[in-house]
Amino acid sequence: MEDYNIQVTVVDRDGTENTLTVPTDVNLSLMEILKASDYEILATCGGMALCATCHIEVIAGLDQLTAASDQELDMLDTLPNADEQSRLACQLHLQPQNNGMKIKIKGALQ
Ligand code: FES
Repeated sequence: MEDYNIQVTVVDRDGTENTLTVPTDVNLSLMEILKASDYEILATCGGMALCATCHIEVIAGLDQLTAASDQELDMLDTLPNADEQSRLACQLHLQPQNNGMKIKIKGALQ
């Protein structure tokens, strides 16, 4: 059986770094996985790409992600601290090719 678990390194707001084992055969967004792993993410819009509180910076593995939709890009445009490595975690569903990616949590806490 193929192994659908991948490793994702997460840097928290305080610089703490942890590596998560993330299943890719479940229909969860990266935002939902981070919340389930006890990271503090408001996700006030529930994953609709409307609040940007799930903002992350992709430190490694950006090229392996699916391209952002216009709605995601529009939302990221509203953030003062977004750059070309920014994504909304609620719009990302990780696949086996995302193994080894590294992200930093940047979403606002209010
Ligand atoms: S949870 Fe609101 S934009 Fe991602």
